[in-house]
Amino acid sequence: MEAHRINNFNPGPAALPLAVLEEIQENFLDFNGTGMSIIEISHRSKEFEAVMMDTIARIRRLLNLDDNFNVIFCQGGASLQFCMVPMNFLATGKSADYVDTGTWSSKAIKEAQILDKSIEVVSSSKDKNYAYIPQNIQFNNNAVYVHITSNNTIKGTQWASFPETGAIPIVADMSSDIMSRPLDVNRFGLIYAGAQKNVGPAGVCLVILRKDMLELIPESIPTMLNYTTFSSKNSMFNTPPCFAIYTVQLVMKWLEETIGGLEKMEVLNRKKAQRLYSFIDSSDFYQATAELDSRSLMNVTFRLPNEDLEKRFVQEAINNDLGGLKGHRSVGGCRASIYNATTLQAVEALVDFMANFEKQNG
Ligand SMILES: Cc1ncc(COP(=O)(O)O)c(C=O)c1O
Repeated sequence: MEAHRINNFNPGPAALPLAVLEEIQENFLDFNGTGMSIIEISHRSKEFEAVMMDTIARIRRLLNLDDNFNVIFCQGGASLQFCMVPMNFLATGKSADYVDTGTWSSKAIKEAQILDKSIEVVSSSKDKNYAYIPQNIQFNNNAVYVHITSNNTIKGTQWASFPETGAIPIVADMSSDIMSRPLDVNRFGLIYAGAQKNVGPAGVCLVILRKDMLELIPESIPTMLNYTTFSSKNSMFNTPPCFAIYTVQLVMKWLEETIGGLEKMEVLNRKKAQRLYSFIDSSDFYQATAELDSRSLMNVTFRLPNEDLEKRFVQEAINNDLGGLKGHRSVGGCRASIYNATTLQAVEALVDFMANFEKQNG
């Protein structure tokens, strides 16, 4: 019997390509002729080693990484990176700059403060409820890194281009937009992304690390919080999240072989976002919450005339097989997350529904 699948606009964990889910299903009981499931085989087996190598190779190709970068897999989600970054790179006497663009940047800042690290919040968009991305920021020359959140999942804003930081490497939380567009990685010292939006399932955090950043790490860091451990052991110091990494492999294969790379992915993502924003802009009933030049291509946040209508909108959407449209509990409103795996057809179905809902309630 064919599974009932809906148009999924969840913010994360989020929609994954159907072909990936089908491939997992097909191979689940017997992985590559082993007679065992991928979740039953040793992480030291040659079969899993091949998964790991291929996943890394695909990520390297997609992001154009040269030998200066390592691809590693951590656990603890993006949230653990909030503390690992300052713990590893801010030894005594060192400081970093942070840009505050919403909930997730604020959490990253808080973790550095808990560790009593020397950081400065050099810019914030809190004055306008984080509806925009700050521009023309002055950074401290002695900062070891500049931390940003490339896409603000909750507020629906995204850096259209990255800040000019001179020689200072950027450390970016790209949890909700990695692999959605091409990237000049040379501007970055470290990129991290909880997998559960564009990369795979929850349980693994992808980290791209510029190798020279390793030189900053003091000796006193516990083994499992030390990037050197992951880097020197190819993320296999202990048992890695095998199933999550295997899924990442299949998502990367889909990106390379079905989509055709990140340039093509960006074209598709722009098309989807454009369709949704232009419909919202054409209506007096729906109101986009992010400022025009800061709008996210991944999370489209909007309001209806009042909260009762928003509640009804989300419920009726569910009744029409359109899921995940409720805004984050901290901000309310509505949000359509249109990550890589969300199709243009799903966006069209959403726009049709929104037009009908407006007709009936506007
Ligand atoms: C931009 C961003 N950073 C960090 C997180 C937290 O990720 P995790 O749940 O993997 O710790 C999220 C989760 O939605 C996010 O959107």
